[in-house]
Amino acid sequence: MIDPLTIRIRPEQSADQPATEALALAAFDPDPRVAELVRRLRASDSLIPELNLVAQLEDTLVGHLMFSRTSITSGHQVAPLSPLGVLPTYQRQHIGSALMKHALNWLAASPYPVVVLEGVPSYYPRFGFVPAHDLGIDPPFNLPPAVWQAYCLPAYSSQVKGTVHYPEPFDLNLLHLTGDFF
Ligand SMILES: CC(C)(COP(=O)(O)OP(=O)(O)OC[C@H]1O[C@@H](n2cnc3c(N)ncnc32)[C@H](O)[C@@H]1OP(=O)(O)O)[C@@H](O)C(=O)NCCC(=O)NCCS
Repeated sequence: MIDPLTIRIRPEQSADQPATEALALAAFDPDPRVAELVRRLRASDSLIPELNLVAQLEDTLVGHLMFSRTSITSGHQVAPLSPLGVLPTYQRQHIGSALMKHALNWLAASPYPVVVLEGVPSYYPRFGFVPAHDLGIDPPFNLPPAVWQAYCLPAYSSQVKGTVHYPEPFDLNLLHLTGDFF
């Protein structure tokens, strides 16, 4: 098991881009759409740059996470998480957790009220994610309820509700890209 103190979490830099795209291809193999999503998010105003994070272990980038910002029917801004990937040989060694905790700590001091994601129901509840439908927060497409999840930040109020409008980089049929991984 990797010593968590040896994992450095930091924003992605331009020199990292080939490595993070290769990481997306490896983590989400055989689906290349996630690497395309990474490229599109980087070029988009919807990306939250402080939350385009890599996990570095010595000279190797072993994990990558991106958050974007978008609106919900109630008029609030919410923060979709996608993608989150860890190199296959480094999975289940708490690198994904380190990235998630770093990002959620940053978001806790931000005005964002809610994080949303389409993800593995057995993974995200450990960080405090709950079924988003229970909060009146809906995806813009049909999903099994357990995979559509939300995390309430300190700025959350029950007025934050409605349908989440995913930003443009998630077009190209990317919305359901994680469906094969559940
Ligand atoms: C899902 C993923 C990001 C998790 O990152 P990770 O670094 O492997 O996960 P962690 O080591 O932080 O996991 C923390 C705990 O969750 C467990 N866990 C990891 N992946 C899990 C999964 N897919 N389902 C259920 N539990 C999982 C770990 O075993 C660990 O348990 P422990 O605390 O009892 O030791 C990573 O496995 C990955 O990149 N998978 C392929 C791409 C993918 O599916 N991304 C997410 C799409 S929603």
